[in-house]
Amino acid sequence: MDYLTLFQYALVLILPAAYLARRYYLSGSPAPIPTTAPVDEKPTKSIMQAPRDDLAPPKDDPFTLAQLKEFDGSDPSKPIYVSIKGTVFDVSSKADVYGLGRSYNIFAGKDGSKGLGMSSLKEEHAVPDYSDLNDADRKVLDDWHAFFTKRYNIVGRVTDLPVSAVKTEAEAEASPSL
Ligand code: HEM
Repeated sequence: MDYLTLFQYALVLILPAAYLARRYYLSGSPAPIPTTAPVDEKPTKSIMQAPRDDLAPPKDDPFTLAQLKEFDGSDPSKPIYVSIKGTVFDVSSKADVYGLGRSYNIFAGKDGSKGLGMSSLKEEHAVPDYSDLNDADRKVLDDWHAFFTKRYNIVGRVTDLPVSAVKTEAEAEASPSL
């Protein structure tokens, strides 16, 4: 076999193999295609309040649902609390929306996780047990929890959530990817 034949073999065998190998490699790690503008490039205006950077370290004080009720905005001398998935937030800074007779007073002084997940302001939905929510509504609920965590001080946790709500949390912790 002379050098020319060897060279031809190389062309016929190695080049396609190299091409296929390259395609295989690239398909496994496609170059990221930017779908949105970098966040700091184009600040978006939101009707929602901005996250705060002056929050106090979270507290872990125990609250029963009955105790939580005292902080429903009906007594102006007391703070207003909203619980989400058992985390109690002090929303007094937004008495204009959570105070008595205001749009979101339905969530004050209680854990209304299910209603938040369902985007519902109905009294019967503002309950702690969200175990029958579908995945999409659970995501909405988790987004609200994250929203509140960035904007309100955590003052404690509810200690007597209904068993089904607590079970839902335990399941989520057991398999966090679900
Ligand atoms: C026509 C329908 C709705 C409109 C026009 C509306 C409008 C608004 C506006 C303007 C804000 C900002 C309020 C502020 O920061 O002062 C807000 C916040 C909020 N909305 Fe709605 N909303 C609607 C429906 C709902 C529903 C169905 C829910 C039920 C879950 C909901 C839950 C909330 C919550 C929890 C906040 C956050 C308030 C905070 O803590 O900053 N909204 N909404």
